[in-house]
Amino acid sequence: MMEVLLLFFLATIIVATSNGYHVEIPYQIHLLRPQTGAGGHHVHGLSCLSWRLGVETNNIIGWTTVPQACEGYVGHYMLGHQYRKDWKVVANAACLYAQGLNLTGDGKDIWVFDVDETTLSNLPYYADHGFGAEVYNSTLFNAWVLTGKAPALPESLKLYQKLLSLGIKVVFITGRSEDQRNVTETNLKNVGFHTWKKLILKQSSESGTTAVVYKSSKRKELEAKGYRIVGNIGDQWSDLLGTHVGNRTFKAPDPMYYIS
Ligand SMILES: *[C@@H]1O[C@H](CO)[C@@H](O)[C@H](O)[C@H]1NC(C)=O
Ligand SMILES: *[C@@H]1O[C@H](CO)[C@@H](O)[C@H](O)[C@H]1NC(C)=O
Ligand SMILES: *[C@@H]1O[C@H](CO)[C@@H](O)[C@H](O)[C@H]1NC(C)=O
Ligand SMILES: *[C@@H]1O[C@H](CO)[C@@H](O)[C@H](O)[C@H]1NC(C)=O
Ligand SMILES: [Mg+2]
Repeated sequence: MMEVLLLFFLATIIVATSNGYHVEIPYQIHLLRPQTGAGGHHVHGLSCLSWRLGVETNNIIGWTTVPQACEGYVGHYMLGHQYRKDWKVVANAACLYAQGLNLTGDGKDIWVFDVDETTLSNLPYYADHGFGAEVYNSTLFNAWVLTGKAPALPESLKLYQKLLSLGIKVVFITGRSEDQRNVTETNLKNVGFHTWKKLILKQSSESGTTAVVYKSSKRKELEAKGYRIVGNIGDQWSDLLGTHVGNRTFKAPDPMYYIS
């Protein structure tokens, strides 16, 4: 009975439209479902999905922690399929773009990668620290970095391999400090990122600068040396905004923290 009614409605609209009449769409665009989180559980009072969308689109900025009510939501998102699916979409788009480039082959075409949550995943750490709902503790986080045990983000590794096969060189620009160079190099190599043109870490003299200023200035230096930044990928908008951002930027998913 419902189907018949719906068909009748649709037929009426099609006829009305083809006659040039303006018609009001008399029903919702889609049936509403109960508000659920990534794990299918009900979230009270706050749409964590809307919050995550706001964060990923850089509409919500300057936040320090994931809202307490969204800790479970973000945890399910990060550990479930959705985070990986979202990563696949980003990495596939980047691969398609890279394949279509008309490169000179002079070794000056580079792709900028951020490190944390872009090439290396700190999910083992964040899983123990509320997925970003706990206040950031640099002592604890740096101790984790020094273990050198961060796994690769698999989709990022695929993109990296694809770019190398196309003759694009990789440059890492990270907010990690210069004294973490060794552990970062070892960690990257251990998980499959074997080669790069440059690994740029933050000098102690730069520790006061925001990521957006620091990374812009590093990219400017690269371009001054004759490199062409054909692509740039990062999990933070501060990896992708500012100046000399490259021909195309790709935003990797990360609802766990915000860096300006
Ligand atoms: C690729 O670049 C070269 C050199 O700039 C140019 O001659 C050629 O037409 C380009 N090819 C395409 C498909 O854009
Ligand atoms: C960070 O964690 C350490 C070790 O648990 C603790 O001693 C310290 O007070 C924490 N720092 C902050 C700012 O919470
Ligand atoms: C770098 O780290 C590796 C592995 O932990 C270690 O064997 C090596 O001695 C370190 N090198 C320096 C210069 O600290
Ligand atoms: C990158 O952008 C520059 C400046 O807009 C342009 O001249 C160049 O052709 C672009 N390179 C590629 C590979 O699209
Ligand atoms: Mg990052």
